[in-house]
Amino acid sequence: MRDPAPTTIYLKDYSPFGYIVDSVHLTFDLAPHATRVTSRIAFRPNPQATDRTFFLHGEELNLIRASIDGTPITPEVTDKGLTANVPDAPFVWEAEVEIDPGNNTALEGLYMSNGMYCTQCEAEGFRKITFYPDRPDVMSTFTVRINGDLPVLLSNGNPTGTGEGWAEWTDPWPKPAYLFALVAGELVAYSDSFTTRSGRHVDLNLWVRPGDEGKCAFGMEALKRSMKWDEDVYGREYDLDVFNIVAVDDFNMGAMENKGLNIFNSSAVLASPETSTDANFERIEAIIAHEYFHNWTGNRITCRDWFQLCLKEGLTVFRDAQFTSDMRSAPVKRIHDVIDLRARQFPEDNGPLSHPVRPESFQEINNFYTATVYEKGAEVIGMLKTLVGDEAYSKALDLYFERHDGQACTIEDWLKVFEDTTGRDLTQFKRWYSQSGTPRVKVQEDWADGTYTLTLSQSTPPTPGQPEKLPQVIPVAVGLLGPNGDEVRGTEVLELTEARQSFTFEGLAARPVASILRGFSAPVILEHDRPNAERAFLLAHDTDPFNRWEAGRTLAQDTLLRMITQDAAPDAEYLDGLLAVLRDADLDPAYRALMLGLPTQSELAAALHEQGETPDPMAIWRAVETLRQATAQHMQDLLPRLHSEALVDGPYSPDADQAGKRALGSAALALTTRLDGGAMAAEVYAKADNMTLQLSALSCLPRAGKGQAELAAFYDQWRHDRLVLDKWFGLQASLAAPDDAPRIARALCEHPDFNWKNPNRFRALMGGLAMNHAGFHHASGASYALLADWLIRLDPVNPQTTARMCTAFQTWKRYDADRQDLIRAQLTRIAETPNLSRDTTEMISRILGA
Ligand code: BES
Ligand code: ZN
Repeated sequence: MRDPAPTTIYLKDYSPFGYIVDSVHLTFDLAPHATRVTSRIAFRPNPQATDRTFFLHGEELNLIRASIDGTPITPEVTDKGLTANVPDAPFVWEAEVEIDPGNNTALEGLYMSNGMYCTQCEAEGFRKITFYPDRPDVMSTFTVRINGDLPVLLSNGNPTGTGEGWAEWTDPWPKPAYLFALVAGELVAYSDSFTTRSGRHVDLNLWVRPGDEGKCAFGMEALKRSMKWDEDVYGREYDLDVFNIVAVDDFNMGAMENKGLNIFNSSAVLASPETSTDANFERIEAIIAHEYFHNWTGNRITCRDWFQLCLKEGLTVFRDAQFTSDMRSAPVKRIHDVIDLRARQFPEDNGPLSHPVRPESFQEINNFYTATVYEKGAEVIGMLKTLVGDEAYSKALDLYFERHDGQACTIEDWLKVFEDTTGRDLTQFKRWYSQSGTPRVKVQEDWADGTYTLTLSQSTPPTPGQPEKLPQVIPVAVGLLGPNGDEVRGTEVLELTEARQSFTFEGLAARPVASILRGFSAPVILEHDRPNAERAFLLAHDTDPFNRWEAGRTLAQDTLLRMITQDAAPDAEYLDGLLAVLRDADLDPAYRALMLGLPTQSELAAALHEQGETPDPMAIWRAVETLRQATAQHMQDLLPRLHSEALVDGPYSPDADQAGKRALGSAALALTTRLDGGAMAAEVYAKADNMTLQLSALSCLPRAGKGQAELAAFYDQWRHDRLVLDKWFGLQASLAAPDDAPRIARALCEHPDFNWKNPNRFRALMGGLAMNHAGFHHASGASYALLADWLIRLDPVNPQTTARMCTAFQTWKRYDADRQDLIRAQLTRIAETPNLSRDTTEMISRILGA
């Protein structure tokens, strides 16, 4: 039964649970359609709480029996949980429930994937396993006994007993239920070990399906590097005797940090040179680090309630970004992150789904694992570090770990450690957590008598529920360049705290060229009307690698917008500047590859919308094609040299150096395809001995109207490998020419390998289509209708994945009236579907509400 009127939960209504849990004992008797879960939980009244209602969450559970202190009881059970009368003193709760993991397609709670049992409990999945106060501020130790005839039986903590058909695990660290995990299956281990700096020996295992052993080595190395890094940089050691990671094919997210038993989507851990791209390797390294880092930022110190999600996610994303910067190239990582922020967080923050980094209400918490909570949440931590400095940041973190170990915390606790270490008042800074929307920072420059004055004004457009905005604390890193390109003022962090503020730089010999928002020091949109000559100057001379890249990006965006709106020709300043940078063999190939990137078509649509224009997806697509063609012609003579600089000798390695060369090589190959009709790409494809080259060559071909034979050959070669097949689906949907996209996507939906119940496969195809900007916004509305059909079909099977995919429609108000009508019709059709999940209902109504 679904809730007819979904309830909204508010941050302001928080109150602690009436009882403390001292220990949890669980016994699982595994059976695909009738697993028995027996719980024995020691409760006692919570002296901090006023409300003593004994309510335990529980959903889709069949209660067999319950007792309190050994006396059977009959609690009041609804579809949300149960209530019972309990003593006003410590007591032991026992219950036995039956669940059906074999029919759990939502992949939340205990479910089955390829004959293997596994769990996903964050955020509120534990309530589908047994009756429990399923909230993160209730922490307890867990002992778990698993009875089942599968060879591998795993849970959290350390193994404390095993025998024929059973295993027992004990987790000594108190944890909230969302960190509970259980895995059972026919799995094989790829094992190693790590000794912590205080001498603890830790067994490391990566558990995979037989046949996947050859894809484990990289993940294991990444894990060991993460463990070492967290000791070296944050002083954080691992705290159990074993660390298990399990790879599972059916998983809604990338991975999950369950204590001592991380569960990973196979796509986020399994890798080999033949089947994974450089980008896959980099993502795997980052996700392994991320989930491992949660052991301290998330598990040892957890969240008081789900409104505080950014406390663990923003911080852990920030930490994994630091790790990647240290393992690879810091400027390249920063640029990647800003590209990602603009592609995913800015549209969210500037549309109907905009919400603060710490939301104040929700209907379904799963809908708030967003780019805003994660990526903007990480940006907020980066700004805090910039404002207080590296040393104070480090001290504040030490204090955070010391003061809050074992607790369930809030953003207030987090900010307080910074206030206490630095003496700084963070009241205004806290607006970054409560105010939604992307601030615009407008730049005005003045020059007189050797003094350069920079006037910055900030404003944030209204967002849902927040018509008025207050000024935020915006760290703006600025450097000044002299006319010959020398840096006349090194980077300085200006603190913009007022709506409008001026900063002066005195004693300058000549009017400088300012490099503003270096390193992207704040997640804002910079509005700076300046001559293209200045941008070209920065592209040639800026000493800040981020802003040097940004100068090229701004030039590219400017020329594209003028090509779209004024039918202008590609800008010579952009093409010449780009050529000069690409010629510079002293620059990192990875960096030069990034320079060749263009703003996405969706970003261009947003920029046009921002200027008060109605974006035409086809006009945007044509402009990008034209600019690409012009770039290829302009660089014609350089391309062979770029290809040779990108040559890698020796065996494949996914390291930053080789990956950077391959990135440059494939960017050059894409341009070459514009000139030779795909001859070279076909050649590279035929010779490719790793997935990075194979896929990048294959991606060039559809644009040249070729690649049918290669796509068929690719399928034959890889049909046995589910992760590679995802790429095959994704590539065709995302690269189809705009007019072909709806038809190609529809045909792929009919393909026997379109296992739509598998989230990776569903996302590959539907996400690929949504990423194909002009194809998705096909004037017929066919792509909208196709996506809506499939969302309606998936919703009863897997609400979480359905709801996430609804975001494809979040930018709908940017487009023309006809397209808006087409999209509104589809959104309405989805909204009117009987028994639509709470997840999807909330998403669609928020998107429509704009
Ligand atoms: N705790 C999350 C996983 C999660 C998300 C569980 C949503 C339940 C609901 C995990 O730590 C995470 O953030 N995973 C990310 C990858 C990470 C590198 C940002 C993911 O799964 O995408
Ligand atoms: Zn996380």
